[in-house]
Amino acid sequence: MSTVVGIDLGTSTTEAAVIRDGRPVMIVNMENEVITPSAIGIDANGNWVIGEKARAQYLLSPQNTAIEVKRKIGTDEKIALGRQTYTSVELSAKLLEYVKIYASEYLEEEITRAVISVPAYFDEIQRQATVRAGMEAGLQVERILNEPTAAALSYGLEHMEEESHILVYDLGGGTFDVTLLEMFDGVLEVKASNGDNQLGGKDFDEKLMEWLNGQFLKKHGVDLRTNTYAAVKLKEEAERCKKVLSTEASCHVLVPMIMEKAGEPLALDEVVTAEQFEEMTKELMARTHHPIDVVLADSGVLPKDIDRVILVGGSTRMPIVAKDIEQYLGIVPSRAVNPDYAVAEGAAIQAGIIQGTIRQEDSIMMTDVNPYTLGIRVMDGMTDDRMSVIIPRNVTIPTTRNQIYYTSWDYQTEAHIVIYQGESAIASSNHFLGDFVVQNIPAKIAGKEKLGVEFSYNMNGMLDVKATILSTGADASIKINMLENSEAEEQIDVSKWKEAPGAKQFRTIIRRVEKALKNSEIQYEPFLEEELEENLYELKKALIAENLEAAKEAEEELLDLLEELE
Ligand SMILES: Nc1ncnc2c1ncn2[C@@H]1O[C@H](COP(=O)(O)OP(=O)(O)OP(=O)(O)O)[C@@H](O)[C@H]1O
Ligand SMILES: [Mg+2]
Repeated sequence: MSTVVGIDLGTSTTEAAVIRDGRPVMIVNMENEVITPSAIGIDANGNWVIGEKARAQYLLSPQNTAIEVKRKIGTDEKIALGRQTYTSVELSAKLLEYVKIYASEYLEEEITRAVISVPAYFDEIQRQATVRAGMEAGLQVERILNEPTAAALSYGLEHMEEESHILVYDLGGGTFDVTLLEMFDGVLEVKASNGDNQLGGKDFDEKLMEWLNGQFLKKHGVDLRTNTYAAVKLKEEAERCKKVLSTEASCHVLVPMIMEKAGEPLALDEVVTAEQFEEMTKELMARTHHPIDVVLADSGVLPKDIDRVILVGGSTRMPIVAKDIEQYLGIVPSRAVNPDYAVAEGAAIQAGIIQGTIRQEDSIMMTDVNPYTLGIRVMDGMTDDRMSVIIPRNVTIPTTRNQIYYTSWDYQTEAHIVIYQGESAIASSNHFLGDFVVQNIPAKIAGKEKLGVEFSYNMNGMLDVKATILSTGADASIKINMLENSEAEEQIDVSKWKEAPGAKQFRTIIRRVEKALKNSEIQYEPFLEEELEENLYELKKALIAENLEAAKEAEEELLDLLEELE
C-alpha cells in the first residue's frame, strides 16, 4: 500500500507532511524548502513553473502567473495565463502535481494518495473542486480534512492527556477560520466551526496598498495601479512591509523608479508605522469577531471556558492578532504549534490514522462537524420551496437524524425528496445535492400518511438519505458522496444521439423537451428546467450506450416533468 501524504493546499503557501515513527515530518520540495508558494505560471518557453520560481516570475510577468488560486476554487471564473485560460481546478491540480512529484522524490516511492485540508468554512462545491484538483493531479483524495481540525490534531498528538476547550484561530493568506474543539480522554471533538472565506493576509496587504497608493497619488497625481509593473511592485512591497511591521515599529517603503510621469522617474517613498497599520486594518480585525461569536454560540461555550487559543496561519504573526484576541476574549493565545506547519502535520496525522502508521492506541480519536445545514424541500402554507432542516449546521458527525413528514394533498401516492445543503430558508436557493422519489404511498386524504426521512452523515463524507412510508414500511433511499461531485463525472458528448440504433422511438419526446426548454416560460420554473435538462441528457446518453431500459426510465421522468410544466 502506498504512503498517504497530508497536504495543506493554501491560498499563499502549500505544505506537505508524512508520518515517520508515529510523528509528522514535513516534506521538502525540489528547492529544499518546506514552504512552497502557491503560485503557478508559464515561462517564456511555454513550460509550467510552480512554487518559488512562479512567485519570482510573478513580478516580471504577472500576466503569465497565477497566485491565490484557492480564492477562486469552486467558481467557474477563468484564470488567464498568457493567451490560454484555466479553471481554478486545473491550476490547483498543477500545484498538487508538483507536490506529488517532490513528495515522491522525498519518499522514494510513487505517491498516489493524499489527505488534503480545506478551510472548515468551505462549502460542498469548494470541497468537491478540491477533490477534483487532486484527482487531476493523479492523487486519490482519501479524505478532505478541515484545516483547523488538522491544526488541532497536530496540537492534540502532543497533548493527549489534556482535557480542555481549544479554540483554533486560523488566519491565513486568504481565509479566516475559527473552530472550537473539546479534548478529553484522547478524543478530540469539534464543537463548531465558522469563518470568512474572503478574509486573510491578502486583505491586509490591500489595505497597505491602498494607503501607499493614496500617498503616491497625493504627491504625484498618478495612480500606481494603472501600470502593471507598478501595481505588482506595490503589492510585493505592501506584503513585505506588512511582515516587517510584525517585528518592527516602522517600515520604510522605497522603490526608486516605480513609475514614470512625463519621462521623469517617480519614487515610492513612504514610512509606515505599526500604529498606522493597526489603524488601517482595524475594520479587518473587527470582521473576525462575528465568526468567533457564532462558534461560541453554536457550541454553547463561554469565553471563560476556553482553555487555549491556538494560532495557525502566517497572518497570526501580526501582533495585532494576539492583541485583538486578548482584548476580545480575555485570553492570551498560545504559540504551541508552528503556524506554518500545523495544518499539514494534522493532515499527515489523519493520513497516518487512515493508513495505520499511527497506532490506534497512540492516536487521538476525532469527530468533526458538518459546516452547513442539510435538509429537504417541503411545502407549507406559503410556499412549496421551504427548506426543512434535518441535520443543522455544526452538529457533530457522524450523526443520524430523523424527521417525520405528512402527505400534503389528498390521494398523494408519491413524494419527491429533494436534498439541499445551505442556510437559506428557501430550499432552491441552497446547494442541490440529490433527489429521489418515494412511490406507492397509500392514497389517503392529506396529512393521513406519514413519511419518515432519515439522514446519516459519516466522516467519510457519505450522506445516506432514506425515506420510509411508516404505514407500509416501504422505503427508498439515496447515497450521496459529498466528496464526489456529479460534475466530476465525465459529461459525454450526446450530440450524435440520432445515430444511435434506438433513437427513432424517442425522437418525439426529445423534440418536445427541447421545445419546452426553448420556451421563455421555462425561466419561471428553474427547478423543472434543471430536471428536464438533466433527464434529457440521461436519455441521450442511454441511447448512445444502447441501454433501452435507462432510456425508458428517463423518458418516463421527462413525461412527468412535461406534465408538471403544463
Ligand atoms: N511575518 C509575517 N507577518 C505578517 N504576515 C505574514 C507573516 N508571514 C506570513 N504572513 C502572511 O501569511 C499569509 C500566508 O499564510 P499561510 O501560509 O498560513 O496561508 P495559506 O495557508 O496559504 O492560506 P489559507 O489558509 O488562507 O488558504 C500571507 O498573507 C503572508 O503575507
Ligand atoms: Mg492555511
